[in-house]
Amino acid sequence: MGHEVHGVVARGKGAPVSVENIFVPDPGAGEVVVDIQACGVCHTDLHYREGAINDEFPFLLGHEAAGVVSQLGPGVSNVKEGDFVILNWRAVCGQCRSCLRGRPQYCFATHNAKQKMTIEGVDLSPALGIGAFAEKTLVAAGQATVVNNAVEPEVAGLIGCGVMAGLGAALNTGGVTRGDSVAVWGCGGVGNAAIEGARLAGARAIIAIDVDDRKLHWAKDFGATHSINSAGLSNEEVVAAVRELTEGNGVDVAIEAVGLPDTYEQAFFARDLAGTVVLVGVPNPEMRIDLPLIEVFGRGGALKSSWYGDCLPSRDFPMLIDLYLQGRLELGRFVSEKIDIHGVEDAFHKMERGEVLRSVVMI
Ligand SMILES: NC(=O)c1ccc[n+]([C@@H]2O[C@H](COP(=O)([O-])OP(=O)(O)OC[C@H]3O[C@@H](n4cnc5c(N)ncnc54)[C@H](O)[C@@H]3O)[C@@H](O)[C@H]2O)c1
Ligand SMILES: [Zn+2]
Ligand SMILES: [Zn+2]
Repeated sequence: MGHEVHGVVARGKGAPVSVENIFVPDPGAGEVVVDIQACGVCHTDLHYREGAINDEFPFLLGHEAAGVVSQLGPGVSNVKEGDFVILNWRAVCGQCRSCLRGRPQYCFATHNAKQKMTIEGVDLSPALGIGAFAEKTLVAAGQATVVNNAVEPEVAGLIGCGVMAGLGAALNTGGVTRGDSVAVWGCGGVGNAAIEGARLAGARAIIAIDVDDRKLHWAKDFGATHSINSAGLSNEEVVAAVRELTEGNGVDVAIEAVGLPDTYEQAFFARDLAGTVVLVGVPNPEMRIDLPLIEVFGRGGALKSSWYGDCLPSRDFPMLIDLYLQGRLELGRFVSEKIDIHGVEDAFHKMERGEVLRSVVMI
């Protein structure tokens, strides 16, 4: 039977997105249908519509979402109808070589729904295997993580992508610990979550770097101890500014949450000896970096990438929601505005103009 619902579709590279009628099939084995309540607008959605991720248009956008399970396919046991869930893009398989080595957070064969949602009979590519700017979406059951339903959906959904990516970049990938110095490039939703993660871990200095004063102002609210407006500065000048704030040494953990070669280079040179660089920002396929190999060797430490904050949804989502409900994690401040499903294109422009941390679509 399936469902005809509204969803936000990107039909072609750079073309404005539009609200369309899409078809969501009934769940098959191991799949569930989730009635979406809230879905944040993440920069990765914009990357999809710009063709920067791949060219498998049409995309059903939206992937930072919370909702209620409304229909179960055969064999589903991890959730039941009526459960309040956050959707994740890391439904671990339990069987790949990474899972079998006890490292499910790097699972190499994560699950998505096997059936396709469609528009006018054409298969849709759901953003990050989710597609949640829609009244209903179809996902693999493991993509739905049950959390305490006392949390507001617009807040819970944030954990599903950007906030988790940033918190986890600091806490999991970067391993920030008490007394560390940390710098974060790009103070959007992801970067500010990294700042909050660094604060939670007990970092002693947290340097926020952005080209926009508004973002730097918000970064201070999340726990940045210093800020640098890098607009118009050369890479060397930014590095010098970070060193000046760290007794000439550079930071222990340098987190890049923009996705540009210049900011990566700044992060690389602004870290202390034996420090860690964490790349969270998503570069486009044309971008290149050119680093002296002797510096890669001579500085020691680690150059890491962080996908989804190296999170394990079943471990991390309920824990973060508990911290939020206890008042120990500030999540509400990420929600700059609530919009309806027709507001996504406009929200992209607000994101580009730096006016918001997160616009959240309420459905
Ligand atoms: N690795 C992951 O798992 C993951 C998950 C979600 C998002 N992301 C990526 O993280 C990045 C940030 O996402 P977001 O939603 O926070 O985006 P955003 O647009 O809200 O934030 C980006 C910030 O970078 C700043 N910026 C731009 N150019 C800069 C420069 N040259 N120097 C310093 N700051 C600069 C902007 O002013 C803005 O505040 C994106 O590339 C997104 O795709 C990665
Ligand atoms: Zn696996
Ligand atoms: Zn995202």
